[in-house]
Amino acid sequence: MIQFQLETDKALFEGAMRFGQKQVKKLIDKSPGFSPMYTRNGKWKHEGATWTHWCDGFLPGMMWVFRRFDADRKGKDTEFWKEQAIKYSKPLELRKTDRDVHDLGFIFLSTYYRWYQVDRNPEHEAVLIEAGKTLALRFREKGQYLRSFVSEESLFIDIMMNVGIIFYAARATGDKHLREVALRHALTTRRVLVRGDGSTAHEGLFDTATGEFLRQTTHQGHRGDSCWSRGLAWALYGFGTCYEYSRDPHFLETAESCADYYITHSPADGVAPWDFNASTESRKQLDTSAAAIAASGLLRLSRLLQDPVKGHFYWNTGLRILRTLSEKHLADKEKGWEGVLKGGVYHMHKGLGVNESVIWGDHFFIEALEHALRHL
Ligand code: GLY
Repeated sequence: MIQFQLETDKALFEGAMRFGQKQVKKLIDKSPGFSPMYTRNGKWKHEGATWTHWCDGFLPGMMWVFRRFDADRKGKDTEFWKEQAIKYSKPLELRKTDRDVHDLGFIFLSTYYRWYQVDRNPEHEAVLIEAGKTLALRFREKGQYLRSFVSEESLFIDIMMNVGIIFYAARATGDKHLREVALRHALTTRRVLVRGDGSTAHEGLFDTATGEFLRQTTHQGHRGDSCWSRGLAWALYGFGTCYEYSRDPHFLETAESCADYYITHSPADGVAPWDFNASTESRKQLDTSAAAIAASGLLRLSRLLQDPVKGHFYWNTGLRILRTLSEKHLADKEKGWEGVLKGGVYHMHKGLGVNESVIWGDHFFIEALEHALRHL
């Protein structure tokens, strides 16, 4: 029975990977050099607003994952994916000094980090280090947090997915100040954005004159006191990364608490509503990108836990989410749809990318599939 489930999962996940490769190949043929964000009626290229500039690493990130997937199978497309990944990653180098966004982890951990794992070229590591140093410049002594792109007083839960690049730069250079910035940011986020039940707020506001924490609020969630599911998924993944670098058990505890909230508040198939506290009607809108991020985060967390029973539970929950996404939310049955996963949400209130494909959803789905397949 277990062997049967393994074989079924393997076939299902490999099929989803191949579909992802097909969609990306079509996109780069049709719109070379284009950086997708969210679809409109299933099409990537349109004039819609972006709100902020944070997604450019995800398409090349998928290409790096495809390269690894093919390389492990000695696939004929290994070199093709490597060439494409390099072609799409290179132009991002300029962003290593970008002080306008808090997203340098998203951009460089999905690209230059993977590139450096392949070739160990010190020039690629230097890009990662510089990006980490740039992100650290957002640190506010008063309040002890990395400010969001929105304003001086603002801290976002999303930054937990980016702080890893500061830890990376600290480890690579031995710079204690960088490590301290990353640790302090994570401790502040844990204190002000993660609630006692493991749910998370999207944004925290501070008094910039005194550093005093004022209140929780949101941009993309339902309300300041609600739990926006993608923010929660960023937290469960991000605090896990933070534990990997710091080995401070508080961060593992926080990641587990966020993971447990996600699991116990989601439907049995593991795909969460866009916000856990939205009205009954609005909660019918799922966010498959939150599910993909949670799946990838759970697979990673499962390997960090001391308790093998809980580790096994997280691993199996990650697989269950991937099964649901592959069986029910793949765009393979919709002719002309350009993304990989349907049913993602970017910004509900602004009406951007609602019930569409979103590139980070596709990226973390592919990342999680490849991770699962390496161990099945
Ligand atoms: N800004 C990151 C997100 O939409 O999740």
